[in-house]
Amino acid sequence: MTKSGDRSEELIALAMQARERAYAPYSGYAVGCALLADGAIYLGGNVENASYGLALCAERSAVAAAIAGGARSIQEVAVVTSSSPPAAPCGMCLQTLTEFAVDPTAVRAHLVNPDGERRTVTLAECLPYGFRRDQLRR
Ligand code: THU
Repeated sequence: MTKSGDRSEELIALAMQARERAYAPYSGYAVGCALLADGAIYLGGNVENASYGLALCAERSAVAAAIAGGARSIQEVAVVTSSSPPAAPCGMCLQTLTEFAVDPTAVRAHLVNPDGERRTVTLAECLPYGFRRDQLRR
């Protein structure tokens, strides 16, 4: 830990491990994600299928794990890809992550690759006009 209560290094290390377990035989592009949600860490990797369009991204797989574990509020995210610079979550995953961010401007996403490149952004920077549940009011 870099400072008391900062779990970013732990999140990144666990996202690296989740990437090792990803199932990506078709694209060869393994992705790992770790979420800090309601004080616990949940992991996901991408899950591909012989029917290519069924691929599940690592981030949405981690969100499903968090929800199954009883969490509702995402505090921090780490995503590991092989890209340089490290890739941000796709639009669909950003929308899914935003659903569970109380304040998307305060949720940091650490984008990392195994070569040690990193950048930290917020969910709101990645998806500035994400659709929010309060917009469903008519
Ligand atoms: N993928 C993710 O896991 N997360 C993203 O945000 C973008 C793409 C996966 C889906 C597919 O298995 C592979 O990366 C290539 O698109």
